[in-house]
Amino acid sequence: MALSKISTSYSPSQTLKSKPCVPFHGHEAKRTGVSFVPHRRLRISCSVAPNQVQAPVAPAVPSDITSNKECYGVFCTTYDLRADEKTKSWKSLIKIAVSGAAGMISNHLLFKLASGVVFGPDQPIALQLLGSERSLQALEGVAMELEDSLYPLLREVSIGINPYEIFQDCEWALLIGAKPRGPGMERAGLLDINGQIFAEQGKALNAVASRNVKVIVVGNPCNTNALICLKNAPDIPAKNFHALTRLDENRAKCQLALKAGVFYDKVSNMTIWGNHSTTQVPDFLNAKINGIPAKEVIKDTKWLETEFTERIQKRGGVLIQKWGRSSAASTAVSIADAIRSLVTPTPEGDWFSSGVYTNGNPYGIAEDIVFSMPCRSKGDGDYELATDVIIDDFLRERIKKSEAELLAEKRCVAHLTGEGNAFCDLPEDTMLPGEQ
Ligand code: LMR
Repeated sequence: MALSKISTSYSPSQTLKSKPCVPFHGHEAKRTGVSFVPHRRLRISCSVAPNQVQAPVAPAVPSDITSNKECYGVFCTTYDLRADEKTKSWKSLIKIAVSGAAGMISNHLLFKLASGVVFGPDQPIALQLLGSERSLQALEGVAMELEDSLYPLLREVSIGINPYEIFQDCEWALLIGAKPRGPGMERAGLLDINGQIFAEQGKALNAVASRNVKVIVVGNPCNTNALICLKNAPDIPAKNFHALTRLDENRAKCQLALKAGVFYDKVSNMTIWGNHSTTQVPDFLNAKINGIPAKEVIKDTKWLETEFTERIQKRGGVLIQKWGRSSAASTAVSIADAIRSLVTPTPEGDWFSSGVYTNGNPYGIAEDIVFSMPCRSKGDGDYELATDVIIDDFLRERIKKSEAELLAEKRCVAHLTGEGNAFCDLPEDTMLPGEQ
């Protein structure tokens, strides 16, 4: 066991002390003939100081924050959306907030969202893009490219660096931005640094987002970040928070298809259990190929138990070695898949994997963590856990290992979830994605 103690301690009387935040008036497009001249007035980030202990209960919107996030360029043009909706039989506009919006994953994702392939060809959207002080110029570049793409369904784009402004009324929050693990940084340090970000964003969502916002956490370690986020957003149902394990599901489907010599659309009922880490459990017991149990199609049990399992667990790390950076395009595709799985009915008999809150789960997994499990949706944005799954001893033992890792991560961030002093005893033989 690697033992390290987080120095901070939680005291219920302490509340979030964010730096005073001033509304961001970042980009104002002034139309001058055919061109426009962007200029900035003021940017102030309101990040929480590292190691600062945070109370779990979200404060109201800080009084010095107003909600005027800035529209960008052509998207500031006034238009009558209701008239458009009527003539084109569009649904009403939905607001989608994306953090880490100037990063590689977002760069793939935003254009998918804007094109209509995720939410549907009759769903107009507003994109509310959260960047950092450092990435703001790049974020303007992203907004410019969105302008130049002339997507009919993309009605509004706003950019900014303050989550209390950017998350305003959003119905979806795609939380991609997180710090990568730097050289020499311990896992406990990464959990703490990213945990601070997700605690702050949970508070901001709680204060200003739609009461039924659906949150997909992508930034690693995503399961524990999602737990921190939901604990800091007590007014939003915990069930609405997801940690992205869809990429692992897609990877597992591809490897089973390869081994079975079929195309990957023939693989269904693919569950990823547990943490998005090297303890994750790609479940070949319940998976099907052409509707037949995968174990009956792939008779090589040794391959399934060792090579297949490890290949999925370590795919993210291997990809980092090849690319020199984390997966981006396939992550974006899997975010799109994860959303689509919630906004369209799950095909009869099938399910999809998502890291969700464990309270009330029927599998005997510890409560109060975010754990990847098989889900089904009616297409209304909500989901139910699948109950028609088999769990044998082999599967249970592996699930337990991932559960133990997540419980250890949870103890390590107790100062961010309001559960007292943090204490890190992370198992040494498990790793976060990208750590290998
Ligand atoms: C992946 O699975 O590709 C990523 O989560 C890896 C990482 O650490 O960014």
